Amino acid sequence: MFVIRPEKDDDKAGIRHVNEKAFNRRNEADLVDALRDSEAFIISLVAVHDDQIVGHILFSLVRIEAETGTTDGLGLGPMAVLPAYQNQGIGSMLIKKGLELCQDSGFNIVVVLGHPTYYPRFGFVPSKPLGIQWEHDVPEELFMVVTLADTGLASVTGIVKYHPAFNGV
Ligand SMILES: CC(C)(COP(=O)(O)OP(=O)(O)OC[C@H]1O[C@@H](n2cnc3c(N)ncnc32)[C@H](O)[C@@H]1OP(=O)(O)O)[C@@H](O)C(=O)NCCC(=O)NCCS
Repeated sequence: MFVIRPEKDDDKAGIRHVNEKAFNRRNEADLVDALRDSEAFIISLVAVHDDQIVGHILFSLVRIEAETGTTDGLGLGPMAVLPAYQNQGIGSMLIKKGLELCQDSGFNIVVVLGHPTYYPRFGFVPSKPLGIQWEHDVPEELFMVVTLADTGLASVTGIVKYHPAFNGV
């Protein structure tokens, strides 16, 4: 059985381990550690199995900037599941629980840069046709947004900016 819960102080090493193993490099683990000390670190959840951290998801603060003003949203990622535990629904559990907590925290817009066949099952759609673009140029189907409240997207357009720590990844 897997438990999804917010990260605790002594989860840091386990979260590093999951990110390093899932991505097979240190960049995402370093990013999570860098963000943890910033104001952008909003929701961090772990999946636990037999007292071992086997999955992790982070939602960090993004700013959606337009001439008319700036709206706060959250960016999903990085997300990681230990290779031996992938394809068992842990990633899906982390996303669903995470999106619930995003809404509970008052954030109605979540963006993600990621697999175009995976995230739509959680309600994400390409953001560019809705007037929300990432600050970097990527194929349209890779940058997606989900709105968590009826009013969420109605008046929000602009350029999405992540915390500068993402620039190094
Ligand atoms: C992406 C990831 C977190 C998904 O976790 P998971 O626990 O395996 O996810 P789930 O079990 O909920 O879902 C598995 C589904 O995701 C799909 N999936 C996984 N990686 C995928 C990819 N790169 N492209 C498209 N689909 C992918 C699987 O094919 C599977 O599809 P199915 O349900 O139709 O069989 C995990 O594969 C992982 O850690 N990957 C390496 C790190 C990464 O790429 N993170 C995401 C970018 S930040």
